Order: sequence, then C-alpha cells, then structure tokens
Amino acid sequence: MKISFSSSPANKADAIVVGVLKDAVLTKEAEELDKANGGQVRQAIEHNYFKGEEGQTLSLNGAQRILLVGLGAKGEATEVSCNAIGGKIATLLRATPDKSAEVRISGLTGKALNEEKAASHMAAGALLKSWRFDKYRTKEPADKKPKLENMVFITPKATEATKLFEAAQHVAEGVFFTRELVSEPANIIYPESLAAKASELTKLGVKVEVLDEKKMQELGMGALLGVGQGSARESRLVVMQWNGADKKVQPISFVGKGVTFDTGGISIKPAGGMEEMKWDMGGAGVIIGLMKALSLRKAKVNVVGVIGLVENMPGGNAQRPGDVVKTMSGQTIEVLNTDAEGRLVLADALWYTQDRFKPQFMVDLATLTGAIIIALGHEYAGLFSNNDELSKRLMEAGEQVDEKLCRFPLHKNYDKDIDSDIADVANVQKTARAAGSITAAQFLKRFTNDLPWAHLDIAGVAWTHKDLAVCEKGATGYGVRLLDRLISDNYESK
Ligand code: BES
Ligand code: MN
Ligand code: ZN
Repeated sequence: MKISFSSSPANKADAIVVGVLKDAVLTKEAEELDKANGGQVRQAIEHNYFKGEEGQTLSLNGAQRILLVGLGAKGEATEVSCNAIGGKIATLLRATPDKSAEVRISGLTGKALNEEKAASHMAAGALLKSWRFDKYRTKEPADKKPKLENMVFITPKATEATKLFEAAQHVAEGVFFTRELVSEPANIIYPESLAAKASELTKLGVKVEVLDEKKMQELGMGALLGVGQGSARESRLVVMQWNGADKKVQPISFVGKGVTFDTGGISIKPAGGMEEMKWDMGGAGVIIGLMKALSLRKAKVNVVGVIGLVENMPGGNAQRPGDVVKTMSGQTIEVLNTDAEGRLVLADALWYTQDRFKPQFMVDLATLTGAIIIALGHEYAGLFSNNDELSKRLMEAGEQVDEKLCRFPLHKNYDKDIDSDIADVANVQKTARAAGSITAAQFLKRFTNDLPWAHLDIAGVAWTHKDLAVCEKGATGYGVRLLDRLISDNYESK
C-alpha cells in the first residue's frame, strides 16, 4: 500500500475519512464535509449511536464513501491510540471495493504527541494492519481480496509527517519480514532456509555469517547440537552484524530462539495444536526483522544479532531424556525433558554472543514456555533480567509501542529446583511444575556470564488467534517495534 501526506485535500479518492471527537463533536474537517453534503454527516451521527468514542466508526455510502472515525477526547491522543485509529480505518476500507482513501484528520494531539507525530502514527497503524499472508491462497474470491492501494493523510504538517513516517515505514518492513518468516510452514522454513533468509540482509549492508554443524562442534555447542540431532535438517547458528556507529562503540546484542519446528522430540507433544510449533522460531524471526529495520533506516548503532536454528524432532538419532550434553561454556546439562529445548539452544547462543562480542548487554527473545501464557495470556510478554536499568528501558519502549512487558523475578533460591543428580544443571524441574517460566529464565542466567541481560518470553504474544489493533490474526512480529524503540530512545549516536 502506498501512503503519503498532503497539506491540502484533493477530493479524488474513493473514500473520505474524517474524525469525530468524544460526545459527537465534529472536527473542523467533519464540519466542512457536513456542509458540503447537505448536513448528511450530522444526520448520520444522530440516526446512529455514534459518540465519537475512540475507535468507533460509521460509514455513509454515497457515490463517494464517507467514513467517520471516533477520535476520543480532544488532546488525549497517544501513539498507541493513533496507531489503532489508523488500523481501524484500514480494516474498514479493506472490506470495501475502494482503492483509495483521503484521511482528513488533522489537529490530533496529546501530551507527548504533536500533530505531525499523530499523522505519522495513524499512517503506521494503517500500514501495519494492512499486512496479510496470502501467498498460499490460490482460490480466494475477488471480494475477499483487499483493494485499498492508496492512502493520503491530510495534515498542515505534511512535510514533517512524511519525514517521520519514513523511519516508521522502515520499521514496518522489518515487522513484515518477521511476520512472513513466522507464518511460513516448517517444510519451507527450516534451519538452512531460515539462515538463507537472514543472509538476504547482506544486500542492505548487514554482515551475515552462517555457522554449520561442524563449526559448532568445534566451538563445543553440545546443547544446541543435541536438540537438532534427531532432525534430517542440519542445525545452524547465524550471526548478523549491523555497524551503523563508530567502530569504537561497543555493540549491543540480541539473541533469538529459532526452533523451526518443535515436536517436543522424544518427550513428544500431543497432536492437537502441534502445528502451532512452526512459530517456535519466533524469537529468531524478530531478530532478523529487527536487523532489517535497523539497516533500512540506517540506525546509528552497532548491533549484533545471533540466532540458534534447530528442528526438534524424534527419530533414531534423537536426543533421549536423561542424556547429558556439554555446553560451550563448559557446564554440563542433564536433558530430563527433550521438549524443554529452547533453553538448550539459548545456552550456547548466549554464551557464544558474550564470549565473542563482549556486548554492552544481551537481550534474548524466545517462545520459551507455555507457562508464560498461563501467567500473562496474550497481552504482555514476560521480562526476566539481572539489570534494573535495562529492564526499565525495555518496559518504557514497550509501553510506547504497545508491545508490553511484565517483569518477573529471578532469585538464586530457584536454582535448586533445577539441580541435577549427575550433571551441573537439569533442563527442567524433576517433578514440580511451579514457576515454569522463572526456572527457565533462571536456567538461562547460568549462560550469561553475568553480563547485563534480559530474557523476553514471547510465547504468548508471537502469534494471535484474533485480530488486534495493528495486526490481523496470525504472526504479530511482536518485539521488532519494541527493540527498535529501545534502540532509538537509548542507544543511537547523534
Ligand atoms: N516451544 C515451547 C513453548 C511454547 C508453548 C511456545 C506453547 C508457544 C506456545 C517450549 O519448547 C516447550 O515445549 N516448553 C515446555 C517446557 C516444559 C517441558 C518444561 C512447556 O512449556 O510445556
Ligand atoms: Mn519444546
Ligand atoms: Zn520450543
């Protein structure tokens, strides 16, 4: 979809969108449109329960469609509410045959929001909401296919909004890449093919290295390799580097769980819903999308992204419950449950990242535990960290872009829950199922070498079963906008 900004209406679009404030107060543009249409706008409002509540909509279908959108109370807009308004407009218009729309909503502001930001955030919401994964639909009826191609946002600050939107568009491209990778089935996306997708970023200036099994063997990554050994597909570790700042600036780093399919292995999962485990590479998908966003917008920061790619399968060569593996860190792990595989992959990926790059901090993302969904549902992701400042910055970034984080504790007293009888640590608790997400994080902590670190358990938010404000059902790309904002707010050189 093409999105642009203009300071004057052209009145050529298939649909005209205007805003209505709380208590059905017409905005300037709605007032003008009402006058030009013989009072139709006011009439329609009166004949319906339309109050101008945020996100409320009303469609008048004349020769040219008129769409009224509720903006809520004047002066109280936020980035999140603007995103949602844009998303709402896109959703409604995409259900019509309209190809073009002119959005006449100016004067939208809030505490931390001027008019040009509001316009850009609305446009970003519309763009994010418009993405769909339809490459495998060969028989979709024409009236189910969205037709909307062009959106023009009318604002006196068109030049400024265009500039702001440029960066937002780059970030959206990153989000879309993540969503695409996460949506693809596991016969298409497996460690090698996902590594190839990551390697596409070289044309944007990202340095990409792909480590094969032999190389990982040499490095001693027995935990990661153990997970992949039952699969016919070879495992990979991908290292991506975006160097947008001075060489002297110490990099920051992001690590992703990339289990391209998680059957559970010999500790096999039940059949019902197992297809969902194609998105168990969601953490890795976010890191790839983030690297794309950063390189597209030429972020002035040095970032390392490391993703551990494996397929967790049962088979004659699969790892058995009770196997002991040796990690790159030298620590040994007793694998009591082959379905707790993500932490095994991350154990080696985290150790490798801190050992090779000595970054300022590491943030890992992983669809790590079902327990985090029990705790938080699909609204917040879990945050676990040994560092208060990093945690605060992550939570603040998350609030801004509505990719929210809830912090959980780490504590040494949880360590005994994962004591092993024969190795340094076990990958799960032997009997109890209490605090499953915390013990997983506590396990990861052993492989961070006490570097500032945060673990985001995104199992509840990487995928959505219902349409959201800026995302249709399916892969969300949760994390790309969050990490991009963490970086732009805190770690970019001027
Ligand atoms: N990939 C799963 C976690 C998961 C579950 C992600 C549901 C998304 C939706 C992970 O590898 C796993 O299987 N975790 C186990 C851990 C258990 C064996 C300690 C779990 O959560 O049941
Ligand atoms: Mn698993
Ligand atoms: Zn998994």
